[in-house]
Amino acid sequence: MKYLEKIEKRKSIREFMKREPESKMLEDISNYFQKQYKLVPEIETELVIRTGDVKNSLEGVAGYRGKCFMAPVYMIMLSEKKDYYLENAGYLAEDLCLYMTEIGLDHCWLTADDSEAVKKAAMIESDKEAVVVIACGFGKEEKEKKRLDILNPSNVLFKKRAGHIAPKIAQEEMVYQDKWGKKVDWDAYMIDPVLDQSLYAASLAPSFLNRQPYRYVLKGNTVILCVKEEEMTSDKDTKLDLGATMMNFDAVASEHDWVDWKMGAPAGIEDIGIPEEYKAAAYYEWN
Ligand SMILES: Cc1cc2nc3c(=O)[nH]c(=O)nc-3n(C[C@H](O)[C@H](O)[C@H](O)COP(=O)(O)O)c2cc1C
Repeated sequence: MKYLEKIEKRKSIREFMKREPESKMLEDISNYFQKQYKLVPEIETELVIRTGDVKNSLEGVAGYRGKCFMAPVYMIMLSEKKDYYLENAGYLAEDLCLYMTEIGLDHCWLTADDSEAVKKAAMIESDKEAVVVIACGFGKEEKEKKRLDILNPSNVLFKKRAGHIAPKIAQEEMVYQDKWGKKVDWDAYMIDPVLDQSLYAASLAPSFLNRQPYRYVLKGNTVILCVKEEEMTSDKDTKLDLGATMMNFDAVASEHDWVDWKMGAPAGIEDIGIPEEYKAAAYYEWN
């Protein structure tokens, strides 16, 4: 399956059948994880896959309002703490979710700021930080699936509803040309169609509370990813969100060229007019 197809198909699922995925499937996920391309290659990561009783012990420890959805499998990604380890973890986790989508396994990310509590609940002894928790299994039929409704951060409702795709900011609203707020001319004569598709893929990434706290700015041949610090999102979740959107971008862009994000802000972007609440988080030179 092509990456874009997986990206369009991927969605969070919050209700699972009791049936455990076959061990071969979990082995395939582990093997995929070992071979993944990292955003920061020198960071050591591990993937722990837990089945069984962990569903009870994780309840209250991870997830919005402590809800873990009683999935048959939980994946816990551990990482060394080095510069950009959270963006790297978000990048790897999104790729893993896309792989799960390809092999027919459903998933939902679970927020977890307390690494020690997650490790304790999942009986993990490690010096590494628990950076991502993912619930997975086979999702229930469409009519029974739960959809997320965010009234405010402390009022996140899970409603049963068909057609549960989470509404996203359109690519057109998420990408600016040269100046903050200036629309891009998406005509194929004006913009490389692969860059167009990569930004479309980036706009479909999962994010904490579906907030999509980022915008992209195109300046010359530089793609600049800007992030907004939000009161309602922890620094950890914001960085995981960044990793996930960068993954989606790369998945499509790498068909065109090897993508090599540089973290931080490029020089000479003062004239873009990035508002105070945003800052440049990463950039990439499109060749
Ligand atoms: C860092 C991060 C943390 C998340 N935490 C949770 C969570 O705790 N509970 C939950 O139900 N969904 C969680 N999600 C899933 C988002 O709510 C979901 O991606 C968003 O609503 C968009 O829906 P989609 O994934 O179907 O596109 C998380 C996603 C990310 C990237």
